[in-house]
Amino acid sequence: MESIVQAQARRYAMVTGASSGIGRELAAILAREGYALVLVARRTEPMRVLAEQLQQAHGTPSVVVGADLGAPEGVATVMREVKERQLDVEVLVNNAGFGLAGPFDELPAGQQLEMLDLNIRALTSLTREVIPGMVARRRGYVLNVASTAAFQPGPFMSVYYATKAYVLSFSAALHEELRGRGVTVTALCPGYTETEFAARAAEHQRPRLFSGPLGSGDARHVAEAGYRALVRGKAVVVPGVINRLGAWFMPLTPLALKLRITRYLNASER
Ligand SMILES: NC(=O)c1ccc[n+]([C@@H]2O[C@H](COP(=O)([O-])OP(=O)(O)OC[C@H]3O[C@@H](n4cnc5c(N)ncnc54)[C@H](OP(=O)(O)O)[C@@H]3O)[C@@H](O)[C@H]2O)c1
Repeated sequence: MESIVQAQARRYAMVTGASSGIGRELAAILAREGYALVLVARRTEPMRVLAEQLQQAHGTPSVVVGADLGAPEGVATVMREVKERQLDVEVLVNNAGFGLAGPFDELPAGQQLEMLDLNIRALTSLTREVIPGMVARRRGYVLNVASTAAFQPGPFMSVYYATKAYVLSFSAALHEELRGRGVTVTALCPGYTETEFAARAAEHQRPRLFSGPLGSGDARHVAEAGYRALVRGKAVVVPGVINRLGAWFMPLTPLALKLRITRYLNASER
């Protein structure tokens, strides 16, 4: 382990949900760009393997933190590690999240509330933990992973879509609030992307969307788009032309029509 003096000299990026998918790719990009890493997820083994690869490729030091951010003590566990090592987090990537497809009244209530705890509560709490230090240093970047789901309500994935609407609204508001204080907040809004997301979201019902009628994104491309937007301090980024068209078109579409469209896409393909 590095000494505290060595660790303090580095620029740290914290990535939640770094054990797979978009978070894993964002961690690899941040390492390439010279950041030391704090990697957070429940599964530590894939993060240890990633940390080893990034150490060999770029000499990146990583702190691996196994934490369930959906649990009440999750954020405290992460922040304890950060504070004990006296790390200044320059980049926070709030990426950990999951979705669930199926009728609201049939999905397990516990899993629905877990979605709120992870996608909303942990994201807000981690942001609240790191922003005061960023403001004091007048330097910091927050990248919150929302979704194209943020642009309209989503029948048969109602709770998930609502959590992502929260992430987009919260991030855009903070982006404006922090203007001129050296800290930017960016919302990354991917469309359907090939990761482990679909397997978990389709545990109860597999939506048509997951068969790719609108195409599917690549986690590396999504992560690169997120990183570029973060560096430029953009408020929102929607990777992919079709997704950008959708994000532009949906707010102009009458509610009844957009509900029908998302209902069709989220309904079971069977
Ligand atoms: N894939 C898509 O189509 C898509 C589209 C739009 C937005 N997104 C968003 O992109 C983000 C990343 O998802 P992904 O597509 O990369 O999916 P993924 O491959 O399933 O990755 C999700 C990550 O979140 C972590 N995670 C899940 N539950 C957690 C918990 N309770 N505590 C801590 N970490 C937890 C997972 O790690 P562990 O399981 O090891 O904890 C994993 O590293 C999510 O916020 C998702 O909503 C995805």
